[in-house]
Amino acid sequence: MLVAVQAAGLNPSDTKIRGGGGRLGGVDLPYVAGREAAGRVTEVAPGVEGFEPGQEVFAFFGWGARPGGHAERLVVAASSLAPRPPGVLVHEAAGLPLAGLTALQGLEALGARPGERILVTSGSGGVGHLAVQIAVALGLEVVATAGPANLDFVKGLGATEVLDYRDEDHRRGLGGIAYLLDSVGAANIESYLGCLSPAAKVAAVAGVPGDPANGITVTPIRCEASSERLTRLSELMSAGRLSVAVQDVFPLDRVAEAHRLLEDGHVRGKLVIAIGP
Ligand SMILES: NC(=O)c1ccc[n+]([C@@H]2O[C@H](COP(=O)([O-])OP(=O)(O)OC[C@H]3O[C@@H](n4cnc5c(N)ncnc54)[C@H](OP(=O)(O)O)[C@@H]3O)[C@@H](O)[C@H]2O)c1
Repeated sequence: MLVAVQAAGLNPSDTKIRGGGGRLGGVDLPYVAGREAAGRVTEVAPGVEGFEPGQEVFAFFGWGARPGGHAERLVVAASSLAPRPPGVLVHEAAGLPLAGLTALQGLEALGARPGERILVTSGSGGVGHLAVQIAVALGLEVVATAGPANLDFVKGLGATEVLDYRDEDHRRGLGGIAYLLDSVGAANIESYLGCLSPAAKVAAVAGVPGDPANGITVTPIRCEASSERLTRLSELMSAGRLSVAVQDVFPLDRVAEAHRLLEDGHVRGKLVIAIGP
């Protein structure tokens, strides 16, 4: 489908790829950045069903695809698109796909049941703030970590307990955790191993530590394009159970500024690039 882009989310993978690393490694130039976007369908290829021109959609394109969301128009596979939740601001919708799908995949990999307790590290990050809300919607009890400026924010997302990760003692008293969703990195996971119960499950979004003892299993999470999962997230948004915290919106000609801010590592929720009407 041809999509007129209205807004696109910015993710750490964009800054990593721009910096010469990231999932795509050294990309071939010219390269259009942006792995997710929200917009309107303008043309539908023959044989594609379920979509029509004018429809409001959003997507994570997958890692191998090269459409690039930071553009006015792009061609997207129907399999990665989903209708946008009605009544949700386009900037919010634009920030959902990549981080939301990653959070949902991580939670699916953990398989925690309603009532069980999960630790979500970085409850204020792009992935983390959505993971907290999805976990709460699934009926889980969420313990999260966040910096001092974000404790109330993460509490407001539904976490029962929010621990200040900058306090060296915050792990004291935290034990028996059977599920951990981490989006900080391998070293961060290692620092919480002592809080996990035997045979705990870990979903590792941003790096996998060396073989942990105690029967603990670590599943690396790599975001996959999925229209079906995106539709589930869209339903949660429509039901008012999931929202995207957009810290700031930048016009396309200030995208460099947005990259710098994201690279500083202290964004709460998401940064979004405003593109078309
Ligand atoms: N595998 C995949 O498919 C996939 C998908 C999405 C993202 N990722 C990766 O996941 C990582 C996170 O990305 P993101 O978009 O969620 O967020 P992000 O923008 O990288 O996260 C920034 C947030 O993390 C918090 N934070 C930093 N260090 C922390 C710590 N030690 N403990 C708790 N919170 C901490 C910061 O809070 P303060 O300001 O208080 O420090 C800030 O709010 C990136 O490395 C990204 O590349 C991977």
